[in-house]
Amino acid sequence: MKITVVGAGAVGASCAEYIAIKNFASEVVLLDIKEGYAEGKAMDLMQTASLNAFDTKITGSTNDYEKTANSDICVITSGIPRKPGMTREELIGINAGIVKTVSTSLIQHSPNTIIIVVSNPMDTMTYLVHKSTNLPKNRIIGMGGALDSARFKYRLAEALEAPISDVDGMVIGGHSDKGMVPLINHATRNSVKVSEFLSKDRMDQVTEATKVGGATLTKLLGTSAWYAPGAAVSGLVQAIACDQHKLFPCSVLLDGEFGLHDLCIGVPVILGKNGIEKIIEIDLNDKEKAHLNESASGVKKTNSLLEF
Ligand code: 2OP
Repeated sequence: MKITVVGAGAVGASCAEYIAIKNFASEVVLLDIKEGYAEGKAMDLMQTASLNAFDTKITGSTNDYEKTANSDICVITSGIPRKPGMTREELIGINAGIVKTVSTSLIQHSPNTIIIVVSNPMDTMTYLVHKSTNLPKNRIIGMGGALDSARFKYRLAEALEAPISDVDGMVIGGHSDKGMVPLINHATRNSVKVSEFLSKDRMDQVTEATKVGGATLTKLLGTSAWYAPGAAVSGLVQAIACDQHKLFPCSVLLDGEFGLHDLCIGVPVILGKNGIEKIIEIDLNDKEKAHLNESASGVKKTNSLLEF
């Protein structure tokens, strides 16, 4: 199993590290345009192999896509991250050009690959990869919901004063501060609805803290986060590589599901060896449906800025 991660910045490197530590891939290629940078990160990570007990071989490449040839899964993290006060949507100008070039270069060398898009604005970048590569829709997946759900569970556990392993919850919708739809009415503590434990106000606080999860970290760190994004990507990669048939909310091209068409947005899907094995159309109440539709309008507005 060969995996390429494009972009050796904090998210790309942390993603390569988590993939290696989980020890399911034979090879990870890190690629970056900055001379020597990916090679350096790969060497540093390889020097953790004996300490962290993994056999995955990590190599670096300065923009040489030949080295990525025949990758089973490619992850695109390239582009600029947001700075404090910026929205993900503001990155579209620079990142669209980068993501288009990267995705077409990857496909030239790995025509059968599955692509996971992390670059922001993620839902729009995932849509752009569809438009630029014309790959079957099961082979392009946007990473946002898995990360947002992890942040949701963190906030739920905090509010419930419960261990994270007791908590389950999911965030659908766009990967943006306004567009996220944390499904708090579906969230549980070991099968008991969280509304049994939390007041309406506390549930609203959890929802709001989840939606600005990325912005809160960007403010603290001066740039966007990397540990949770890297771990979330590694979860999706493992589900595909090991044909796990795990359910994650991911940004996928919709063709009528949830009443939505011609956009990529976060919905629950099953991931396995073919990428998206199935989209799961869960029942949403009227309020959740309205939030998802509002989120979809926001994503479509950002998509309209794309030039093909
Ligand atoms: C985040 O929310 C990078 O969009 C990513 O942290």
